[in-house]
Amino acid sequence: MDVREKGGTRRVALTEAMEERLLQETKSLVIFLQVALRNGKIYGLSNEAFLQPMARFQGILYSLLPLEGAISLREAEGYLFVNERRLRFDLEGFLSYTRLVEELRRRKIGEVTFQEEVSGEELHQFVSLLTLDERAERPWELMQKGLLQRGVTHVSVEAPVSIRFSSAKEGGKGRELARYVFLKGIGQVRKVLNQTAAAERIDIKGSKRVVQSLVDLILGEDLFILGLTSIKNYDDYTANHSVNVSILSLALGSRLGYSKLDLYRLGMAAFFHDIGKVRIPEELINKPAALNQEEFKVVSLHPYYGVLPLMRLKGFSDIVLRAMIASFEHHLNYDLSGYPPLSQRRRLTLFSRIIRIADSFDAMTTARVYRPIPLLPDQALAIMMDEAGRAYDPVLLKLFVNTIGIYPRGTLVRFDTGEVGIVVNVSPLPEYIHLPQVELVRDSKGNPIEGEVVDLAREGERRRIVRSVFPRELGINIVEYLWRR
Ligand SMILES: [Fe+2]
Ligand SMILES: [Fe+2]
Repeated sequence: MDVREKGGTRRVALTEAMEERLLQETKSLVIFLQVALRNGKIYGLSNEAFLQPMARFQGILYSLLPLEGAISLREAEGYLFVNERRLRFDLEGFLSYTRLVEELRRRKIGEVTFQEEVSGEELHQFVSLLTLDERAERPWELMQKGLLQRGVTHVSVEAPVSIRFSSAKEGGKGRELARYVFLKGIGQVRKVLNQTAAAERIDIKGSKRVVQSLVDLILGEDLFILGLTSIKNYDDYTANHSVNVSILSLALGSRLGYSKLDLYRLGMAAFFHDIGKVRIPEELINKPAALNQEEFKVVSLHPYYGVLPLMRLKGFSDIVLRAMIASFEHHLNYDLSGYPPLSQRRRLTLFSRIIRIADSFDAMTTARVYRPIPLLPDQALAIMMDEAGRAYDPVLLKLFVNTIGIYPRGTLVRFDTGEVGIVVNVSPLPEYIHLPQVELVRDSKGNPIEGEVVDLAREGERRRIVRSVFPRELGINIVEYLWRR
């Protein structure tokens, strides 16, 4: 098995089936912990009703620890994450899930980590501490103290994320990983495009690994990876664009509540959506003027050309089939106009409708030879909203705006104070999407400054965004900026 070091915890490269099983195990882990906790409170810690689920919890934990290195349960915005997996429960487990989330919230515990060496006695002490009713000011700190007093060193608790994240500069490790995956993704698309052009076998395995990492990053709580989509590489447009479209599609899919497996399928489809472009002559793709009718006809064949290399792949899987459909449909509009023309009316797949939105947004906000000045993200979104119901699925488009925000991460904004900043975070709550967190980069006189992050949603914050700004207008190199932080 391929063992990678990732963010300090060990991850073993898993097959889809193993990943699915692991997810089930993780859910059971949460359920048994919650049942043990509840029964411990009611019947006491020597009752079978407590001991049995406790033993199950312990057993599952011990089976997962060698695979993962450490297990962290983290509550953020009402969601429960186990390591970087966001758990989604069916009706059966839902009650346990919400109760555990509530329990952690009540105690202001953001994260519980079990180290690989944790003993049964330490687990017992941890759960027994959780059964005590504590209503002190900072219960997570009390809990941590209590653990140490009882000699528990392989279970630790931490504050909720909102308390910990005082600065956008934290979480460096996750950002390193995001940058790495982003670059690796571009390299991988380039490789796949070259293979397609040479009619060689496409490296599906390598692509799967990249997309799996993208899914992991999107399911994490720091969506720094979304900010990287503001990087537009003029020279390697299709490769950069394909990675951006994958990230943006995944963000929307995640917002739709897709399972990890479905996100992976969606990510793969987005990753390959434009491979048909390799068969279009470079001079047409980069023509500095509008295409004439004949030329447009040629370019509009790329969705169809994309289907062919995928069809040739060995082992015609569900993933490949979905990627083929997405390639074919990604320039079709919601009202079925667009290209390639359809001989029969049908409903576009949800994947295609998602990719259509991510694709347009990324294309509109990227400079091209024929359009040297791209649209600012908020301008692009406004134009797209005008096309809702015709070009784009209106519900999905609305959700897309709620997901990336009116001023997406990586956008430069000017305040009414004259200060300029870069958007580093967007609220997950729709009522706050126009009020992101912004890191100031210029003071009111235009002098470069560093560091302060203002949260526009915070009470008493007076600054208001006047408009978004082109980085070039101010001589700011966004790429350098996103790479430095
Ligand atoms: Fe395309
Ligand atoms: Fe595209």
